[in-house]
Amino acid sequence: MVRKICLGLLALCFVTTSATIAFGYDYIGAPKCKICHKGEAKGKIYEIWSESKHAKSLEVLKVKGEDKNPACLACHVTGYGKPTGYGADSTKFEALGNVGCEVCHGPGSAYSKMAVMQDPAKAKEAGLLTPDEKTCLTCHNEKSPTFNKDKPFKFAESYKMIEHHAPKKTQ
Ligand code: HEC
Ligand code: HEC
Ligand code: HEC
Ligand code: HEC
Repeated sequence: MVRKICLGLLALCFVTTSATIAFGYDYIGAPKCKICHKGEAKGKIYEIWSESKHAKSLEVLKVKGEDKNPACLACHVTGYGKPTGYGADSTKFEALGNVGCEVCHGPGSAYSKMAVMQDPAKAKEAGLLTPDEKTCLTCHNEKSPTFNKDKPFKFAESYKMIEHHAPKKTQ
């Protein structure tokens, strides 16, 4: 009983801190991340993402004529319903019309500056999140109309399909 309450409190604390951390940062869109995370020397992270289904997630809604439906946009674009997310600024429809970098790594206005990015501790302070299975499950769940109950989401398998790394530093 006591244990259950503790776990409940922990979960609450976790939710409040992540909400605080994410507060106040603006979405800038994947093209801004591209500037520094593209090309062989940088691990082709942008290229890997842009060839993934996450980069085409608004397209599949357009094909169905559902690209204005809030119930669909919630999982198919970047930051839907957030003050600076998709839909807030018409000049950013294209940049945020996808499951972009910031869906998983957090809104990037503060951490994406070079001096901040080069220091993992500073980047974290400026809102950079380390995504994990929980991040994926916010969308890869039974609320998705195409969710296949017989094939539940498996993180390890699924992450392999979108895996990306910064190049290893030479010692
Ligand atoms: C001005 C250049 C620049 C921009 C813009 C930029 N980054 Fe970075 N980022 C870097 C550098 C440099 C590193 C350090 C690792 C490396 O050299 O690849 C890094 C590291 C990272 C890391 C790993 C951090 C760690 O703790 O290991 C993540 C995640 C990341 N960037 C995501 C993003 C995202 C998402 C965006 C866009 C919102 C973005 N970056 C925009 C330069 C940039
Ligand atoms: C809870 C999040 C969520 C919501 C809400 C959602 N989707 Fe999706 N959608 C996903 C995910 C995740 C996938 C990837 C496949 C899967 O696991 O279902 C996907 C895939 C798709 C695909 C591609 C399927 C394929 O076979 O390639 C289409 C089309 C689609 N969704 C349409 C819609 C429409 C239309 C709506 C609104 C009526 C909607 N989605 C609402 C998360 C969501
Ligand atoms: C904001 C919602 C959202 C989040 C968070 C998210 N995804 Fe997705 N994911 C989608 C949607 C929507 C699609 C379908 C896009 C399409 O078909 O064009 C998809 C498709 C995929 C696909 C392609 C599936 C296939 O059958 O080809 C993989 C793999 C995937 N996601 C892995 C992940 C992983 C791993 C994470 C967590 C690290 C994650 N996703 C987080 C929304 C999301
Ligand atoms: C669907 C979620 C998702 C999306 C979209 C995504 N990432 Fe990641 N990214 C991850 C996960 C998960 C990791 C591994 C985190 C860990 O355990 O270190 C990661 C790791 C990274 C790293 C660190 C790699 C390393 O070598 O440690 C960088 C840099 C990065 N991502 C940049 C980007 C950029 C830039 C984009 C967009 C072009 C992007 N990511 C899009 C989920 C995502």
